Amino acid sequence: MQIEATTQAPAQTGADTIAVGVFDGEDIAHDVADGLLQRLLDQGEARRAFRHLAVAHADGRRYIVVGLGDRARFDTERARVVAATAHGRARELATSTLCWEVPHHLDDAHVGALVEGTVLAAYRFDRYRNHPDDDGGIERLVVSAHHPIDGPVAYAEVVAAAQNRARDLQNTPSNELTPERLAHRAHELVAEVSGVTLEVRGEEDIAALGMGAFAAVARGSHEEARLIELRYEGPDATGPLLALVGKAVTFDSGGISIKPAMRMSEMKFDMSGGAVVLEAIGAIARLQLPIRVLGVIGATENMPSGHAARPGDIVRAANGTTIEIVNTDAEGRLVLADCLVHAINHGAERIVDLATLTGAVVTTFGSSHAGLWANDDEWARALEAASAASGDLLWRLPLHSDYADAIKGRYADIVNSTENRKAASITAAEFLHRFVGDVPWAHLDIAGTANDTGRSYAGSGGSGYGVRLLVELARRLGQ
Ligand code: BES
Ligand code: MN
Ligand code: ZN
Repeated sequence: MQIEATTQAPAQTGADTIAVGVFDGEDIAHDVADGLLQRLLDQGEARRAFRHLAVAHADGRRYIVVGLGDRARFDTERARVVAATAHGRARELATSTLCWEVPHHLDDAHVGALVEGTVLAAYRFDRYRNHPDDDGGIERLVVSAHHPIDGPVAYAEVVAAAQNRARDLQNTPSNELTPERLAHRAHELVAEVSGVTLEVRGEEDIAALGMGAFAAVARGSHEEARLIELRYEGPDATGPLLALVGKAVTFDSGGISIKPAMRMSEMKFDMSGGAVVLEAIGAIARLQLPIRVLGVIGATENMPSGHAARPGDIVRAANGTTIEIVNTDAEGRLVLADCLVHAINHGAERIVDLATLTGAVVTTFGSSHAGLWANDDEWARALEAASAASGDLLWRLPLHSDYADAIKGRYADIVNSTENRKAASITAAEFLHRFVGDVPWAHLDIAGTANDTGRSYAGSGGSGYGVRLLVELARRLGQ
């Protein structure tokens, strides 16, 4: 979809469909055809209720009157949702150019959110379908306001496009999106943007770096693992080095502790953390945000084989900690442990890791919120602020020595899994906690939010959850 900002009136933009929003207690600001749209409102066919739609035709164009509800409640999330709703109807009506008439007195964040909602809702993943359900889609989006909005429109387009690219990586099946292919995507990205450098290491290097936990997971698969390391240096960057660490298990069978067959195909999404880190760094670089970022992505499959790690195996992580692998399906924390140590060894001063880490977080939060854990209250607040602004929701859960005690080992320093089902997401976070020392660190368990969230704008398949959050966090760090 081609996207433009303009100060021209919607009717002058060549759009065949124009979306006109109306808040509670307000009327149509710029009417057409002698008050047609206002008449629809007065007669009750169009309504101001949030997400209500009515369609009218005038002057050879289509108008969609969109209810925006209470102005005071209209946050950026509502803007995304309503943009997705309007986009859906416009698409059904075979729109080729959609123009949003921005309601008066909306700020830049809302304008950006309208663009995000539209671009995310327009996303389709049908490259493997010989007969896609629908054809084409909207070719062009124009956003019209009385004042110049080129900046926020272009910014939002970059962020939403990055989120859609993360969704492409998520949705691509594991037979194609191997660790090597993910590294290939990192190479592509480096060529597309400026300020990013890349180092990719294979399994031999991973072992040689002392990453015994990561290596133990990688062993079981014929696909070569990859440690993907990106560095972004923005213009005039002064602040702390932000490390973004992603779990990229391109398929999680569980390994020798194999998973049940039911819905195992969803384990192609187990690379979501890595995909999100990669594409978020791409967006940060396209936007040339004035910060420094280190991306560390641990990419591997988790497979059973004659080479696979066995329950009971003891491995040594890069910081010397020994781990008894009680359950080979608790592989994400093994990969992340070494990636976190690697990030710290390379100067990380703030860390965020993203991982589809536990089924328990899905039980807790469903698909709405990611779980947040942090060893630093200020850093946790920074994530909460970025979450509120981006609409990527999260909720903090505790770290506590009681939970840390639960992963103490008998044969090794720690175990990778407890033998009961108590607080499984929290004990997983405590496991990671062992590897970050005092560096301000936040862990996001995105197992529930990574795919099939049911959100109106990115609800089916990979969601790209976290891209908007990370870019917003980076934007705030650069201020
Ligand atoms: N990738 C899974 C977590 C997951 C489960 C993500 C369901 C999305 C949906 C992770 O590697 C895993 O298998 N976790 C285990 C840990 C357990 C063995 C301690 C889990 O949560 O069951
Ligand atoms: Mn697993
Ligand atoms: Zn996993």
